[in-house]
Amino acid sequence: MHQDQRGHAMTTESPAAAAALDTAIYNFLHWKSALMPEIKAALEADPGFGLAQAVNGLVLHAARNVAYRPMVGESLAAARAAARAAGAGMTAREQLYVAALDAAYRGEIAESVSCYETILATDPTDLFAQRLAQMELFWIGEMAWSADISERVEEAWTPEVPGYGDYLSCRAFDLEEIHDYAAAERLGRRAVELDPTDVWGTHAVAHVMIMQGRHEEGIAWLDGLKDNWAEANQMCLHLWWHRCLFHLERGEHDAVLEIHDAWVRNREHPLLQALPDLYIDLQNGASLLLRLELRGVEVGDRWDELAELTLGRLDDHTSPFTSAHYAIILAATGRFAEAEALLGSMRGFAAGDEGTLGPRYRAAVIPAAEAALAHRKGKHQRVVDLLLPSRRLLWQMGGSDAQRDLFFLILADSLKTLGRKDLLGIVLADIAAAGFTDPAGRVGYGDADGDADGDAA
Ligand SMILES: [Fe+2]
Repeated sequence: MHQDQRGHAMTTESPAAAAALDTAIYNFLHWKSALMPEIKAALEADPGFGLAQAVNGLVLHAARNVAYRPMVGESLAAARAAARAAGAGMTAREQLYVAALDAAYRGEIAESVSCYETILATDPTDLFAQRLAQMELFWIGEMAWSADISERVEEAWTPEVPGYGDYLSCRAFDLEEIHDYAAAERLGRRAVELDPTDVWGTHAVAHVMIMQGRHEEGIAWLDGLKDNWAEANQMCLHLWWHRCLFHLERGEHDAVLEIHDAWVRNREHPLLQALPDLYIDLQNGASLLLRLELRGVEVGDRWDELAELTLGRLDDHTSPFTSAHYAIILAATGRFAEAEALLGSMRGFAAGDEGTLGPRYRAAVIPAAEAALAHRKGKHQRVVDLLLPSRRLLWQMGGSDAQRDLFFLILADSLKTLGRKDLLGIVLADIAAAGFTDPAGRVGYGDADGDADGDAA
């Protein structure tokens, strides 16, 4: 029996396995790219290490790729076998991780989150459980629930607890998504002071700044920290995506294209070489290109590599928010037959799935995907017919307010094209409710409201 850095027991006789898993969890919490080799090392040192098997499965599940499902299943089977072999020797906390993986594998995301909450009720500084809960809840749009979790454990976190800064950055993002911007910025900045490589704290503050329209500050914030991201995983590319949001608001389209090519979708970048179709990277790329096109910017053949990767994901329903982007990508390259195949597959999944995600596809993803297709075809009334009734349900597809904004931009563009200024007021009110402090001052909404440039596609 060994302990992790916050004193939680790990059932293994191998010090090497325990140390490797502790490092893996540390790297996960720090968004470092070096993760799978450490988990592999833990399993090589002790193949019967149930917690390591569960962590392996949970990390693979987190990659939101249906191709990984067999490996997730194998990890679950190995974790269950280890739990049986350990009998009463495996701690309740470890068994809850196995249960969380089991629930996630069955598509019962809410049940998985409740396992993490149960862990945290006894072990409030188990930051791995907290971060997994946050991730799951983020991708089903339940950030108020996530904020409740991070608030519940707040008292247990003092500066002496290892990982204090990571707790602060986790809490900061919850606070940002429930629109408590002042507290979010305070905690995010503190986390980054403690550790400038903390990309999650950096990210929380970047979110606050885009929501509050602090574009120049946002660029300066990210520019001042960018040299600390060398060991980060894809979160650093998402931070470059965030920087592009600020440039977009300033009309600096060349800067956006430069960052897109150098970072966000630079296929020569080691992170994209290793994982070219990671879900968040596909989202980032599609979101930027469409935002640029909505500003009337030619993006050339940049959609093509996204489309080629998307063709392998038509039956992948692991990530509602990403699925909506698949439709955007396929439509952008004129692959309407493939987009219809995607929609058919999503409808089949939504009709049959009894887990957490099926209803979310039905309520949010399918209308958003259909709207993306209609928008590309210039069928603006159809866009309005789809998105006006579903817009207040789009949160169910998960993602942040800043990310989901893309679908409101599509709606605003169609309303503007149709000259429906009367309905644009409703969308502006939605954008305010989503937490943006100056909806009418934003690119894509101001002009849509007849106030500004009006050069959108
Ligand atoms: Fe973000």
